[in-house]
Amino acid sequence: MLRTVVTGPLWWLVMLLTLVVARPDSLSDKEKLDTTGTLCNGHALLCDKPFNLITLPATHASHAVRKDENSIGTQDKDIQTQLSDGIRGFTLDIHPAPSSTSTPQLCFLSCDINDGGSLADTLTIFHDFLNDNVNDIIVIVVSNPGGVSASNIAKAFTSVGLDKFAYTDGPDLGDWPTASDIISTDKRLVVFGDKSVGTLPSWMLNKETITQYTKLVVPSTDAWPMSRENWKDGKIPFFITYHVRWVNATVDGKTMAVPYGGMAAHTNDWDLVSHTVKVRNNNFVWPSLIVADFYDQGQLIDTALRFNSLPVPGDQVDYYYPDNMSTKSLLTSSASSLSALTASGWLSLAIAALFLCSYDVFRI
Ligand SMILES: *[C@@H]1O[C@H](CO)[C@@H](O)[C@H](O)[C@H]1NC(C)=O
Ligand SMILES: *[C@@H]1O[C@H](CO)[C@@H](O)[C@H](O)[C@H]1NC(C)=O
Repeated sequence: MLRTVVTGPLWWLVMLLTLVVARPDSLSDKEKLDTTGTLCNGHALLCDKPFNLITLPATHASHAVRKDENSIGTQDKDIQTQLSDGIRGFTLDIHPAPSSTSTPQLCFLSCDINDGGSLADTLTIFHDFLNDNVNDIIVIVVSNPGGVSASNIAKAFTSVGLDKFAYTDGPDLGDWPTASDIISTDKRLVVFGDKSVGTLPSWMLNKETITQYTKLVVPSTDAWPMSRENWKDGKIPFFITYHVRWVNATVDGKTMAVPYGGMAAHTNDWDLVSHTVKVRNNNFVWPSLIVADFYDQGQLIDTALRFNSLPVPGDQVDYYYPDNMSTKSLLTSSASSLSALTASGWLSLAIAALFLCSYDVFRI
């Protein structure tokens, strides 16, 4: 009788702690919680974060889809698929269209090597996505290696009506508004132009003054450099980590640097995790975008989720608790053995609960 009185409240505490400890195993409950509130890029937890402190997975030369493994490109899936897979950052390389030099075309290295179609066609995909997904924000970084006029680039955006989504509130280096602030104004396209674009339209943000970034492309033989380009001391920028490895290859009898497709599975696995965490720790910056080639290989999307403290599909308690044997035995214990927990058992349960509550593997 006395035993029931004592173990009653204890039992509820155990249930509560067990639920918290088991959090990665109950992702569907977590997601249910999320979907009852307002979502920002698919997650309620992102709504109150300043936009530059959210990590978005991004693709490098997003349009440069390879025909096969022997052709040159940076991706194996098209932009529509990238959007449905959760990619929210895109980088575009503009060249003059082969048919008309004033028409901006998305090509990689040159339009002979990889022609991704007209800029306007791709911008239509982004426009339709923003129309259909009213709580999603996307980022586009525009580069203009082919030297098309800035006004023709701007025209491609306005012709599909994308400029009306462009975020123009001119954040300088420093804190950005939160994701929900941006969503509430419907300015859900953050578009940067780099110095090759020329005179930017009023609704295109200047990549060179607002962002900082790592080296764009690193040879396969080099270590990842930790320095950042465009350093502005003491500022918290919109920060872009490029995680892109290239290799010298012979193409039509000429040696040139190309994306290292054969290494992508390795490059985008723990190498990506370790590079992005090191850049973050060495520079005291938060990665706003992580940009990769061949995004569908390796851990790009999961790494962005982890930076955002969001649950990663398939994760288990094992990965987060240093002594998984005892966690496992606790989780599978019956009610009677739970009520017989020792003080140290309680302590490790509480520590596990705290650890999993923060679920924040990269910030500790
Ligand atoms: C290509 O080779 C040159 C000369 O050896 C070297 O400097 C460069 O870093 C290489 N590029 C890549 C992407 O490996
Ligand atoms: C902990 O979990 C990891 C990942 O599942 C596993 O590799 C490791 O062997 C586990 N350690 C113990 C002590 O069970």
